[in-house]
Amino acid sequence: MHLNIVILAAGMGKRMQSDLPKVLHSIAGKPMLSHVIDSARQLNPSKIIVVVGHGADTVKDYFAQENDLGFALQMPQHGTGHAVQQAVDQLVGGNDSNDMTLVLYGDVPLVQSDTLTKLIQSAGTGVSVLTETLADPTGYGRIVRDANGQVHRIVEHKDATPEELKINEVNTGILCAPTAHLKNWLTRIDNNNAQGEYYLTDIIGLAVKDGVAVNAAQPSANWETLGVNSRIQQAQLERLWQAEQARRLLEKGVTLADPNNFNLRGELICGRDVFIDTGCVFEGRVVLADGVKIGPNCVLRNVELGQNTHVDAFSHLEQAKAEDHAVIGPYARLRPGASLGSHSHVGNFVELKKTRLGAYSKANHLSYLGDATIGEKVNIGAGTITCNYDGVNKFQTIIEDGAFIGSDTQLVAPVTVGANATLGAGTTLTKDAPANQLTISRVQQFTIANWKRPTKK
Ligand code: UD1
Ligand code: CA
Repeated sequence: MHLNIVILAAGMGKRMQSDLPKVLHSIAGKPMLSHVIDSARQLNPSKIIVVVGHGADTVKDYFAQENDLGFALQMPQHGTGHAVQQAVDQLVGGNDSNDMTLVLYGDVPLVQSDTLTKLIQSAGTGVSVLTETLADPTGYGRIVRDANGQVHRIVEHKDATPEELKINEVNTGILCAPTAHLKNWLTRIDNNNAQGEYYLTDIIGLAVKDGVAVNAAQPSANWETLGVNSRIQQAQLERLWQAEQARRLLEKGVTLADPNNFNLRGELICGRDVFIDTGCVFEGRVVLADGVKIGPNCVLRNVELGQNTHVDAFSHLEQAKAEDHAVIGPYARLRPGASLGSHSHVGNFVELKKTRLGAYSKANHLSYLGDATIGEKVNIGAGTITCNYDGVNKFQTIIEDGAFIGSDTQLVAPVTVGANATLGAGTTLTKDAPANQLTISRVQQFTIANWKRPTKK
């Protein structure tokens, strides 16, 4: 069996009021068209063809690296049937009656692959349409069934009779048809209708005429077939999808303090007894091991946290890792390349970049640690700064196990602090500090006797 998937994405999206083509607008941080492509890929199709038109170059450029995709240009746009006609040359198979073509919409982003599998199965060697029954079917094509309840044809809202307008079963636009038949039917549709367009939906009437079975299937959830034509619909679908993602996590045993204020823009993999407080944003791939707690209003982007790690409120973590029992925040910033050892602490207003903080080490207050390798059981005093940048190049700081860095220390890299060394508070370290000794660079304290404050003249 050869399966083609044609994704219609040539429409303008005028109501988005945007320079960006509609299908590149995002749901959960990912372009709508990417959602559709990802669901399509799960069906292991022989071919995916995206029909582009408005903003064609921008859309094609966005997917330039993804070489399993074919593109067909539809310019100008004369309807959904006309759109599929542009992809006909690229369809594979068609000699076997099992060869199917599935049509999806680039602006209906959340259709799930199991619904599509159900649709394809219901088609057999005939046609199947994904339909829904709506309380208010205004604007949709209506599913006209015959006396036996068989799908007979689809009539567009603008072409429907008053009787047909009363039908509540609507066409979602998603359908599948045998490739050979589809090619033939597409040569037989015309544009003699209210909109002067070539309707893909007219293939249903032709199938019935040719004695090809037409079935219908329904989506598992109603949000799967919601389309986006405006920012309002985009925002509504975003909330529906976030609610669905939250539901899936709750079902797996994750605690979400407020499922209505939860944002996942990527993939979140959780162990047992993970707790996530309100207002957090997860992006990219985030892995939280057993017992991890995330405080309110944190941002985690491509992060891996070990067992029982706690992240307190308002922390921002990107491309960072922590081993078990780390304590992070509140107000911590872990930038790319931050790596925390077991039982380490990173406190408020501490920023780490390309820095390893070893097991049981602590940097609890107000510090910048960049391009540094810090051993185990090190104490980083408040206000410590690695001066890693001379304006041109970056340099490394090494702090060995057990060192104690006094408050308000500047480590002018490249520089090394030996094991169990102590740096006195206020030190500006420009040369290596030997192990086991106190190093201090500080003007001797003195007091001027009989000094008087100036007085107002
Ligand atoms: C279409 C269906 C209608 C269905 C509705 C569901 C037809 C004739 N009608 O209506 O039965 O109820 O979808 O939303 O198929 N597109 C192109 N090129 C075109 C026209 C459209 O690529 O020339 C794309 C659009 O970008 C969009 C999709 O096809 O992704 C549907 O187009 P839209 O204009 O929204 O469909 P309707 O005509 O409203
Ligand atoms: Ca539409």
